[in-house]
Amino acid sequence: MIVLGIESSCDDTAVALYRPGCDEPFSEKVSRQYKIHDPYGGVVPELASRSHLEALPHITRELLDDCGIRPEDVDLVAATAGPGLTGALIVGLTFGKSLALSLKKPFVAVNHIEAHMFAATAEEEVGYPFLALVISGGHTLLAVVKSSTSYEIVGRTRDDAAGEALDKGAKILGFPMPGGLNLALAAEKGQRGTPDGRRFPRSYLKPSLDFSFSGVKTALLYHVERTRPSSEEAKNNIAADYVEAIMDVLVKKAMLAAKTYGINTIVVGGGVSANSRLRELFKNRCQGQRKNVRVIFPSMPLCTDNARMIAARGLRVYKDKGPSGLEADVFSTFIDQDEA
Ligand code: KG4
Ligand code: ZN
Repeated sequence: MIVLGIESSCDDTAVALYRPGCDEPFSEKVSRQYKIHDPYGGVVPELASRSHLEALPHITRELLDDCGIRPEDVDLVAATAGPGLTGALIVGLTFGKSLALSLKKPFVAVNHIEAHMFAATAEEEVGYPFLALVISGGHTLLAVVKSSTSYEIVGRTRDDAAGEALDKGAKILGFPMPGGLNLALAAEKGQRGTPDGRRFPRSYLKPSLDFSFSGVKTALLYHVERTRPSSEEAKNNIAADYVEAIMDVLVKKAMLAAKTYGINTIVVGGGVSANSRLRELFKNRCQGQRKNVRVIFPSMPLCTDNARMIAARGLRVYKDKGPSGLEADVFSTFIDQDEA
């Protein structure tokens, strides 16, 4: 089985081939757009759509050629159908549907959040139920996952997503795009608990499993306005304290959710799951008082937006539910219409 996955929900255009059972099941080509958007300080939807349109045919051809696969060898085409930027989604979806139609192969529409939620399961067998922690630029949620088709969201952010708080924090500290990644790299170089930084507030909203990150972001803004850090070292130290506050809440709330629901496996997904400090904090917890909890992370290429997870989730959805109609509504796979 050869699955072609297409991801175009935001500012990365990605195509991947997924061949389950092979030694190296994934091959991928990615075209990143942050240089296009950086002068504007954020993703410009119209520029994103145009860039997807330009990149998709080229990277798909390159991917197939590099893997020595003919288009007609592809058995299934999967594309992200949402949530994301509407224009950007339409480009990838239309490309995928057209390709499937011309090749007379089935097409399947994939929910981007579900793709993050199940990304790690493409690399490692994980039993049900598990607790999913999805942490991306647009979403932060905890879900009790009962099967590949059934899950219940038990906590979500009430304001900013964790990745969004990192991106906005990067902007406050003057780091270029991709902000969250640059902030995380700065934090790795910096030191926590120096006079440059401060202990940023953590919002736990107990007993709820919801999150809130707007307070910590505002605290960073006031701290930077007050202390006006100019040296790289000072900014790195502040970044280290800021990242710590966000990761601390994510880890503690995921652990609390696991305890609340009596689940011993936590599966993390989404761009923020690439963070080294998050991984370290989870590890410390699981080596400490919560030895019975296992935390599973996707490998790096499956963390931030990628087409591998779309191909893998596409195959699962196809097996569970069959193909999507080619007329499929762009918004039909949204978890929650309010988040469109
Ligand atoms: O999943 P993703 O690539 O796209 C969305 O679906 O939103 O997540 C993007 C988010 C960004 O907001 C960025 O701040 C965050 O992932 N991110 C990171 C790292 N790399 C990307 N956060 C922490 N540490 C990283 N290394
Ligand atoms: Zn994503």
